[in-house]
Amino acid sequence: MITLKELFDESQKYDKKEITVAGWVRNNRAQKEFGFLDLNDGSCFKTSQIVYEEKNLDNFKDVQKYRCGVSVEIKGTFILTPNMPQPFEIKAKEIILLGDSQEDFPIQPKRHTREFLRENLHLRVRTNLFHAVFRLRSEVEYAIHTFFHEKNFVYVNTPIMTSNDGEGAGELFSVCTDTKNPKTDFFGKNVFLTVTGQLHVEPYAMAFRKVYTFGPTFRAENSNTTKHASEFWMVEPEIAFADLEDEQNLAEEMIRYIIKYVFDHCKDELQLFDSFIEKGLINRLKAVLDSPKFARVTHHDAITILKESRIGFENTPEYGKDLATEHEKFLTKHFNGPVFVYNWPKDIKAFYMRINDDNETVAGSDLLVPGSGEIIGGSQREERLDVLLNRMNELGMNEETLDWYVDTRRYGGCKHAGFGLGVERLLMFLTGIDNIRDVLSYPRTPKSCDF
Ligand code: 4AD
Ligand code: MG
Repeated sequence: MITLKELFDESQKYDKKEITVAGWVRNNRAQKEFGFLDLNDGSCFKTSQIVYEEKNLDNFKDVQKYRCGVSVEIKGTFILTPNMPQPFEIKAKEIILLGDSQEDFPIQPKRHTREFLRENLHLRVRTNLFHAVFRLRSEVEYAIHTFFHEKNFVYVNTPIMTSNDGEGAGELFSVCTDTKNPKTDFFGKNVFLTVTGQLHVEPYAMAFRKVYTFGPTFRAENSNTTKHASEFWMVEPEIAFADLEDEQNLAEEMIRYIIKYVFDHCKDELQLFDSFIEKGLINRLKAVLDSPKFARVTHHDAITILKESRIGFENTPEYGKDLATEHEKFLTKHFNGPVFVYNWPKDIKAFYMRINDDNETVAGSDLLVPGSGEIIGGSQREERLDVLLNRMNELGMNEETLDWYVDTRRYGGCKHAGFGLGVERLLMFLTGIDNIRDVLSYPRTPKSCDF
């Protein structure tokens, strides 16, 4: 058996050869004495045209009735079709029904709304759009691993169950077998799903120098937006002997690497997004690759830019305050591409970020991109034991549960930095898709965990 990908990749080699393929019928256009099946076999996102004729098939009458969604095996002759839109077709000699599909199969050969498809998460992946999204997602994750491995990073699997709140934001899902009493519960204490792998990967940076963790993270954040999911994937590199600028450089290099990788490996998918999701997507991404360096602006200067724009924002930009989505949008427009906003007011950032000399800001840096806003949050870490303890104390944090984390500052601590890239936000940036639910296989959001 051969795959359609092989046939598309090396069409010349197969001209007039007898081949066997198997796949799912996307469309069946039956005429009186012949017909065409659009077949997708999963190996690539293109479909191939199968021509069937009454004179060649014993079961012609049955094939005419094959519904959209059936799986079939086809033996036939491969024929190059240089004068047709598709490069080749397959003239069927035998068509075997492998799995019938019921009449109510929801994915018909027409355009479905994305809301409708979200009610059919397990079937929507058989559409062109979601085929493209999830192949691209797979390629992007591979690119991320490749990028870090080429740079000698060690991949660390950090735990999903943890007893700490890594971001200190209180957005935790509990893990328990006995909800009523933590003492008699499985772990004998409160345990949660992790919001970040950072705290657990930092000690590994003190041993391997350059490390990353890549896994699912969970946030019980009640934000019903198109950019927030309760379960999402994050890649978090951590580098020793590095400061904020090193962190930004690494983040920028990685983003460029991923875009380039996608250009090299996902041409068809990008073309589809450019045609049906965001016109001009390819040029927008090219412009990012061609730009000499991502803009870098302090939070203070970003607020000044917003104030001076004299735009009537719904949320007034304020020094010392977080950026709203409309501000992020304005800034990426203003800088005409991705922009790092750094040196954030310490009160709105996590406890582990390094306090700057002004004692007001921290060495944190968010990367904002057109479309998805913040896709990366990172920082130089507070490596000074006394400053870190003081900060934790100020925030009323439970030092006991994080004593092991503080140890990295007690035993050979050093300047270090890292970031977290939200994979879904990155995918939104790369595809132009504007709802995070459409880049997650089974999205989990407030009041929605149905599959
Ligand atoms: O900015 P965040 O909260 O940073 C951290 O978790 C750090 N511990 C990372 C680090 O320094 N190692 O989250 C990082 C990124 C965000 O920039 C965003 O892309 C994504 O994770 N993210 C979400 N994506 C989808 N849904 C949510 N609810 C998200 N919250 C954060
Ligand atoms: Mg953040």
